[in-house]
Amino acid sequence: MDVGHVPWWRDAVVYQVYPRSFLDTNGDGIGDLPGIERRLDHLSWLGIDTVWISPFYRSPMADFGYDVSDYCDVDPLFGTLADADHLIAAAHQRGIRVLIDWVPNHTSDRHPWFIESRSSRSSAKRDWYHWRDGRGGAPPNNWRAAFGGPAWTLDDTTGLWFLHLFLAQQPDLNWSNPEVVDAMHQVLRFWLDRGIDGFRIDVVHCIGKDPVFPDQPAAMGEIDRVGIQNELVTHELIRGFRRLVDGYPGERTTVGEVNLGDLSSIGSFYGHGDELHLVFNFLPLYAPWTRAAWQDMIERVEREFPPGAWPTWVLSNHDVRRVRTRLGSEHAARAAAVISTTQRGTPFVYQGDELALEDAVVPERRRVDPGGRDGCRAPIPWEPDRSHGWPSAPWLPWPPHADTRNAASQRANPRSMLHLYRDLLAARRASPALRRGMVRLLDAPGDVLAYERVSGEDRRLVLVNFGEQAAHVPLAEHWQVEVASASQPDAGSLPPHAAALLRPSA
Ligand code: NOJ
Ligand code: CA
Repeated sequence: MDVGHVPWWRDAVVYQVYPRSFLDTNGDGIGDLPGIERRLDHLSWLGIDTVWISPFYRSPMADFGYDVSDYCDVDPLFGTLADADHLIAAAHQRGIRVLIDWVPNHTSDRHPWFIESRSSRSSAKRDWYHWRDGRGGAPPNNWRAAFGGPAWTLDDTTGLWFLHLFLAQQPDLNWSNPEVVDAMHQVLRFWLDRGIDGFRIDVVHCIGKDPVFPDQPAAMGEIDRVGIQNELVTHELIRGFRRLVDGYPGERTTVGEVNLGDLSSIGSFYGHGDELHLVFNFLPLYAPWTRAAWQDMIERVEREFPPGAWPTWVLSNHDVRRVRTRLGSEHAARAAAVISTTQRGTPFVYQGDELALEDAVVPERRRVDPGGRDGCRAPIPWEPDRSHGWPSAPWLPWPPHADTRNAASQRANPRSMLHLYRDLLAARRASPALRRGMVRLLDAPGDVLAYERVSGEDRRLVLVNFGEQAAHVPLAEHWQVEVASASQPDAGSLPPHAAALLRPSA
């Protein structure tokens, strides 16, 4: 690599597509691959350069695609392999890179590998999953699964228990078996050969297991295993993915989901530049809306990630309440958009956050997700009319205020969240300081967070007022507003819950 060369994924802004809810084209109420292609121009207009598409593999949909029964095919609900090829080509034509989700920790229980593994104790694929004796009538250890209950299920066919950190329909693969490693490497190659630009890797920290399967200390209580699972061997497996991916031309990339609690463990998944290219930083998903909390996150990312690790910033995804819902006001959601797009690190934008969508209120009879996550997965409203640009009623209810919080209405309104995002992304693209510069926290009064981004001669200042009162910030004296979340009288005067990106006065 040239000295000073910056890989594309450091400059990227990634947009997460949850395909079921993006856009339906064939009238079955479920978004599909042609639907993504149809709205690529929305993403280009917005200034997105990379999409990550949540799973569209063949799946019984017990966990809406995170239970894969064939990694090398598209589920008919979403389309065909030809649709995937077409979508990848259409994205590339627009200069949009494509990351796909890869789910290595577990398959579906309907995957032919598991069907074979479960069939008998002597099956050729027996050791592809984790089978253990129980303790009396109880599971082999005390681990809890992510959606509740024990992480083991007794299988009647052979009288042994199998491990599943998620649903019983999602048995965990045994990555200590080289045949599993090989088979899953083939999956990576299958998609890299089709031209995708990289992978978002589902719960990658979970894949390595201690073969002894020790009980979790009682002090950890009922906390599920996904938040704890962290074995050294996982890093070796990830180095294997890295070598494979780096063997392809075009700087293919990996971004890992590491659901651990502390930043230094999360940071360890960058390795020494030989593990994941990017790791999700989920801290903002749980941060209260205070200056102290957000300043602390910025400081900790700078301090606790290993040297050379390139951070990411995530405000929402398909597993948590949306940022607009969590923060409780559009003002705060707009200010959060300013923060996440002006950080040092690659921002990830979850579909619909650019429209300030709130979670849908889903009545009990329409709830379908075993993890209670339906609200943030509501369909994207494209148009103001009642069908919102979908050919028939979608699988989940619309999010609130879809008559105004839709793509067409917001495109026509320069003060909308959609325009704010577009302006922020344009400012980021144009400024080396915002894309790559160092971050320096500054002293500011009271509830105001202030930081500077600097790269050579290029500088930007960001001010965020977390308070209920308007704030005046004297240090903005020689600066002017480039993009602001709310209209403000001058560069240093911020309304409550407002943020501004400033550039030096001419
Ligand atoms: C994390 C994914 O984001 C989530 O949606 C899924 O349920 C689990 N991993 C299991 O694959
Ligand atoms: Ca459809």
